[in-house]
Amino acid sequence: MDTPTTALEPRDVAYFQRGAWENPRFWSRLGGQPDLASKTALDLGCGHGSLCIDMAKAGAARVVGVDLNERLIRFAQQNLQRNYPELADRVEFHCIDIADLPEGDFDLMTSKDTFEHVMDLPKVLRDMRERLKSGGRLYAAIGPLWNSPFGDHDTVKRLIGVNIPWAHLWLPDRLVLRATAKRLGRPLQSYRDLGMNMLAFRDYRRIIHDAGFVVEFFQPNCSRHPVVRMFSLLRHLPLVGDYFVNNLYCILRKP
Ligand SMILES: C[S@@+](CC[C@H](N)C(=O)[O-])C[C@H]1O[C@@H](n2cnc3c(N)ncnc32)[C@H](O)[C@@H]1O
Repeated sequence: MDTPTTALEPRDVAYFQRGAWENPRFWSRLGGQPDLASKTALDLGCGHGSLCIDMAKAGAARVVGVDLNERLIRFAQQNLQRNYPELADRVEFHCIDIADLPEGDFDLMTSKDTFEHVMDLPKVLRDMRERLKSGGRLYAAIGPLWNSPFGDHDTVKRLIGVNIPWAHLWLPDRLVLRATAKRLGRPLQSYRDLGMNMLAFRDYRRIIHDAGFVVEFFQPNCSRHPVVRMFSLLRHLPLVGDYFVNNLYCILRKP
């Protein structure tokens, strides 16, 4: 007898489908998709699994998606089986901390819009480096960064209904967190309890440069949006520059 299956939730399907325009943008901001034919790849913070499917379609021999969110991994697995059965022998999704993944020998790694949610980024970068081949590259997109206009990932907007730039930085934390805790029905001590690591651009710069990789590409404010282009000038201002870094794209090579 077939195991009973549940329908994929429309909100998850819609999020997964955003990959159709987000993935090409991810690669183009990083100088184009590398040759993936016969490569092994790991995506950290794979979420719904869209980038993993993208890499398998591009010819990768094995793609491993890891994420800490059980619900998203369940979606990614079911979506793979139902909608991409032809890729199922080359793609796997695991709800696992990368530290618990047996040491691997991946040709490349990706991480899209995830590092701003990783609580111990130096450790995760170390764990990634250990599982990457010598000469292998990590392609990462980070953002929105905490100090950027909407670095709270809409926490304030969900309370007041409008997006006010930088509101999370001047509204008292305890007001926002108390109201958000009430809305979610769980206690919150800090924005970190909502999954944001609150790192500033200067923190990423230090952590990335100390992580034991060769930094091949390091580009803040990747976007054609006119406001973000203006930020590229403002980010050089002394003292307040970090507030004008919206995102960060980088390519790191293991020596
Ligand atoms: C904003 S989502 C991005 C998902 C996907 N990469 C995308 O672009 O749609 C961030 C994801 O990172 C995951 N995450 C946070 N910390 C993580 C960690 N240490 N290891 C693996 N995944 C993590 C979260 O569970 C979440 O699914």
